[in-house]
Amino acid sequence: MNTAETSISPAILEALKNIIGADNCLVDAETLAHYGHDETEQLVYWPQVVVKPQTTAQVSAIMKLCHEQKLAVTPRGAGTGLSGGALPHLGGVLLSTEKFNRIIEIDERNLQVTTEPGVITEVLQNAVKEKGLFYPPDPSSRGSCFIGGNIAENSGGPKAVKYGVVKDYVLNLEVVLPTGEIIWTGANVLKNSTGYNLTQLFVGSEGTLGIVTKIVLKLIPHPQHDLLMLVPFASLEKASEAVSAIFRAGFVPSALELVEIDALKIVSKMVDSTAVPVNDEIAAHLIIEVDGNNLDLLMQDMEAIAALLNDFDAGEIFFADDAQQKTELWKLRRRVAEAVKTSGYTIEEDTVVPRAELPKLIRGVKELGKAHGFHAVCYGHAGDGNLHIRINHPTIKNSHGNAEMTAALEKLFELVHGLGGTISGEHGIGLIQKPYLKTVFQPANLMLMRAIKKAFDPNNILNAGKIFDLQDA
Ligand code: LAC
Ligand code: ZN
Repeated sequence: MNTAETSISPAILEALKNIIGADNCLVDAETLAHYGHDETEQLVYWPQVVVKPQTTAQVSAIMKLCHEQKLAVTPRGAGTGLSGGALPHLGGVLLSTEKFNRIIEIDERNLQVTTEPGVITEVLQNAVKEKGLFYPPDPSSRGSCFIGGNIAENSGGPKAVKYGVVKDYVLNLEVVLPTGEIIWTGANVLKNSTGYNLTQLFVGSEGTLGIVTKIVLKLIPHPQHDLLMLVPFASLEKASEAVSAIFRAGFVPSALELVEIDALKIVSKMVDSTAVPVNDEIAAHLIIEVDGNNLDLLMQDMEAIAALLNDFDAGEIFFADDAQQKTELWKLRRRVAEAVKTSGYTIEEDTVVPRAELPKLIRGVKELGKAHGFHAVCYGHAGDGNLHIRINHPTIKNSHGNAEMTAALEKLFELVHGLGGTISGEHGIGLIQKPYLKTVFQPANLMLMRAIKKAFDPNNILNAGKIFDLQDA
């Protein structure tokens, strides 16, 4: 397959300005630097031009031009991604969806919302909550990430353990294809057996198949109550063993998160919080939430879960009594990634295994760290078996392009695969996880995926070099 050209001639720049106006077509150094990074490692690649279309027709015209001229286009939401999906590693055109920031309609009759992709996830959640409705997927970055980016990555977050991930809420999408054509992928319905499921193909496609310009999401009634507790453990492995026991006993928490003590120490210091006591006897905490409409039943569940955790040497449990304590606890949890990155843990892995295998994964991670000279902290969505692993290596700060770290991570993913798991639960493959796809897929899987990409994007211009290397496309 041809690969995208990246040089932007003055004539092309003029054509882009004609489509979106000079104000929305930026080439100054400050802008290029800002859009040259996301939250992935310490990677920076400047695009040649940043475009900010405001309508579907403008996106279509841009894509037609870039398709004809074989120009690389990198779509970008809020730039909170952790696999490099929004990095313009080929230069070229960076297409920001930030001006698509309208919630178009909250349909209370059908429990649906139609929105543009550049709406901040938390803004959308709050808007539907005002109507008593709930859009559960809540990545840690929900205060800044865009709903469009969440669709690109099939994001999850803490509530996924009870409510599912983004894919479970996407009903229909308006998409501009890499060739500039505009399609709706499905219908605004809860059931759909009409041909191949293009809607779900776009969910998690990491901006490689098209640019989503409108989104129809399913909503559910908002639960009336939630209870939250924090449980300390003297051993990380014991904490992870307790996770599967909670589900086996028949409980369905609305969040079941794990945070290793080193991560909690770092984040508590960063946000200057003493909400959670940290001492040398504690190795990790579980954060457990239940929600629903019957407060008495929720209290019973919490007490029963607490009793069960005694079998796993849990320490003294802290119950968050009021909204402020809950907010404080969630703030600590949500800011872990940012805090540990700032203190040197620049490399993030997004492993996911069947949840009862978590103890084996954690043991393997610690052994790998010893063998390869890095320190790892574990945190994440233990209830989903989705363990985020943050790596602090004394000299290697980017895994991308580093043979030594890539070799270590290959071993990590071999372990994960052996446990029945896979590379990413919610952060995607993007730029930096490409070397490990062959660990979990057969050549036939990769051939099918590349054929899909080619069918959508024959000139390989849209987010080229993501998920697959350019030469493999
Ligand atoms: C989290 C993000 C990094 O769970 O996925 O905090
Ligand atoms: Zn996460």
